[in-house]
Amino acid sequence: MGLSDVSPIPSDSPVIDPILMEGGNYLKEGRDSAKSTCLIFSPKEEAVGALAKSLKFFEEHGVNLRHIESRPSARFPSRYEFMVDCAPSGDLGIAFETLRENSSYFNIITRNHKDNVDTVPWFPRRIRDLDKFANQILSYGSELDADHPGFTDPVYRNRRKYFADIAYNYKHGEPLPRVAYTEEETKTWGAVFRELTKLYPTHACREHNHVFPLLIENCGYREDNIPQLEDVSNFLKDCTGFTLRPVAGLLSSRDFLAGLAFRVFHSTQYIRHSSCPLYTPEPDVCHELLGHAPLFADPAFAQFSQEIGLASLGAPDEYIEKLATCFWFTVEFGLCRQDGQLKAFGAGLLSSFGELQYSLSGKPELRPFEPAKTAIQQYPITEYQPVYFVAESFEDSKEKMIKYARTIPRHFGVRYNPYTQSIELLDSKPQVQGLVENVQHEMQILLDALNKL
Ligand SMILES: [Fe+2]
Repeated sequence: MGLSDVSPIPSDSPVIDPILMEGGNYLKEGRDSAKSTCLIFSPKEEAVGALAKSLKFFEEHGVNLRHIESRPSARFPSRYEFMVDCAPSGDLGIAFETLRENSSYFNIITRNHKDNVDTVPWFPRRIRDLDKFANQILSYGSELDADHPGFTDPVYRNRRKYFADIAYNYKHGEPLPRVAYTEEETKTWGAVFRELTKLYPTHACREHNHVFPLLIENCGYREDNIPQLEDVSNFLKDCTGFTLRPVAGLLSSRDFLAGLAFRVFHSTQYIRHSSCPLYTPEPDVCHELLGHAPLFADPAFAQFSQEIGLASLGAPDEYIEKLATCFWFTVEFGLCRQDGQLKAFGAGLLSSFGELQYSLSGKPELRPFEPAKTAIQQYPITEYQPVYFVAESFEDSKEKMIKYARTIPRHFGVRYNPYTQSIELLDSKPQVQGLVENVQHEMQILLDALNKL
């Protein structure tokens, strides 16, 4: 998937009402993290019953709690911190103020941040939190526009519903469901595979050409076989820790980018309509597996992608749009120069027979990738790009993204902890001290290794 499909829709789109479609109701009402207010606090006292005393403030002001978690505090050694998820009920403002006065640490992270300028937009803290927004989709994957090639094909529409349902029911940690693709679907894949693989040796970047034979060898990339997401995801996990996750429809830019912070890529699993194999109005399994997957196996590219994701966590809406635009002009439509030659690394190019050739034809305008400038460039989503941005290298682009991320107003630093697969909010001295100790330990390992060489 990518942002081609999500960018026209504002990232703060309202919560979706249940959509009734043929066969049933797919977007259930119920727990809705879009209206949740999460807060993290440490009580001032560490006495027995400190949590119960804190929770009393919610009861007194009629606030319903949906979920409570306790963890050792990362900020105050040998103390605890609590995360509570509040439903929009009672007098949240007074309850929060009272709790803030009685806490040694207090931070609000809310999805409904428009109502309160002091709060940080909600973002997933643990990898399994991705389940919370997986189904807050802007449209279900089986809804097709009237000009979609499969619009009048009931068999195709039925198939799209099948794929959307798989993703809708998926939960973090489960194996990605294997799909028996039909003969017609495999033929469509074959047509795309055959044409694109002719261009890769001359048009794709070095990293794509390096990984592609490994995908043929390890993941069943063949003209007569559509690879399974599970196999590709496992391969990527071994290479860079990236994993794929099926998606039932269009995610908001904020949610889509948040996945990248965890090295999770939301991927479609259906294939385009067989009537025009070299055209698709939306990302499909050809775009994901031929365009995106090979690059996520490259360590520098994986790091670059994760930096965009990390920068997006808790960022204000206008920056989400800017980051989504940077994503568009790199991960989707990026070019780079290698050995003096222009090559493509964007998945939108590597999965489009026509645009891959056009982008390197010398006709379109080329500009150097500079996040602050790239972030405000307008772009069309239904035609070839008039402007492409050229990266020096993935390493260079990553450094530029990190520098750009520093300009995003956010009162805490974020770090991904791969051991716990969670995001750490760095906003206290003990946490930063702990991090410095970790770095010292890593330096010692490096030094020891160096001495042995
Ligand atoms: Fe994409």
